[in-house]
Amino acid sequence: MRVNAVDIVVPARPRPGARISGTGHYLPERVLTNAELSTMVETTDVWITERTGIRERRLVAPGETTSDMAAEAARRALSRAELEATDIDLIIVATFTPDAPLPATASFVQEKIGARRDCPAFDLVAACAGFCYGLQVADLHVRGGVAKHVLVIGVESMSSVTDFKDRSTCVLFGDGAGAAVVSAADPSDEVERGIVGTHLYSDGSLAPLLQIPAGGTARPTTPTTLADRQHFLKMRGSDVFKVAVKSLVAACKKALEAANLTADDVDWVVPHQANQRILQGVSDRLAIPMDRFYVNLERVGNTSSASIPIAFDEAIRNGTIKKGQLVMFCAFGAGVAWASSLVRV
Ligand code: ACO
Repeated sequence: MRVNAVDIVVPARPRPGARISGTGHYLPERVLTNAELSTMVETTDVWITERTGIRERRLVAPGETTSDMAAEAARRALSRAELEATDIDLIIVATFTPDAPLPATASFVQEKIGARRDCPAFDLVAACAGFCYGLQVADLHVRGGVAKHVLVIGVESMSSVTDFKDRSTCVLFGDGAGAAVVSAADPSDEVERGIVGTHLYSDGSLAPLLQIPAGGTARPTTPTTLADRQHFLKMRGSDVFKVAVKSLVAACKKALEAANLTADDVDWVVPHQANQRILQGVSDRLAIPMDRFYVNLERVGNTSSASIPIAFDEAIRNGTIKKGQLVMFCAFGAGVAWASSLVRV
């Protein structure tokens, strides 16, 4: 791998300046099982389960948009943060499956949740690493005093870019949304809760590993690109697999080293939910056992930028992750872009 990665580091600090004050997620009702997929392409439940760990995933209803899912996850996060939409000073939507090329999906979300009509709102594209990218932007805004409360949403309608004739990709992905409100840390908090640090990386030399080839300026939409199914996600799966394990491990080690912590200090790893075997590889190399990884990919599949905030919220809601615990996020996806974050809940 050519090393031209961008390593943007928020230095470790005595007390976190920003914390996650509320989380929420939304999954569409429609369940697509491996059994149903095996009637659509030549595959089996056994192949999918053994190679990925995924058993089912969710699909948006007809007419249900990316911003619909994002808005619902945002409302739930706001309610848990005990905030109104009008309290939000910035809305960041991490997605590569927007409602439309223009305007930003964040603008639709702003209107749907009833945020202030002068609240800045923008989309961010870092594929599966998008939520961690958004978290760092939010952390910097709050610590810099530019915003008091930032809404970070990871959301994907993966079914809109999935080729349901390509068995090597269509078994992997699902739709959904997760959200977090990032607020100023409370200095009177007895536990030092908050975002400890986030590390972001990108290596554009590996862009061909994972891409949607057509529909942009490089390859505008033509009848030929449509006929060749070039508007769907293409992936060199086994190459992605190898780079993902290596990158995730390096990012996690960097997060721990920068915060002067060790793997033993981590209560939970909430990873991007791509593939059970990738997570096992990361677990082995970090010497953090799988029983400290929160995994829901069996039920949700790979929801790209939504996967970490969905899993994180689920783990908080069901009592797995408790107040005061140290949680490590790690993500890898198209770009290639990858990231890690440490958060004291
Ligand atoms: N059912 C049955 N057989 C299949 C299927 C399927 N669904 N898909 C592929 N195969 C076949 C292939 O055709 C191949 O057959 P061949 O040996 O006759 O050529 C064989 O299975 C092995 O294929 P591989 O691609 O080598 O299988 P692998 O073990 O690598 O598993 C997988 C494929 C699951 C995609 C894996 O490579 C993977 O998980 N990669 C990483 C994906 C990922 O993490 N993505 C994250 C980013 S996603 C984002 O950014 C949006």
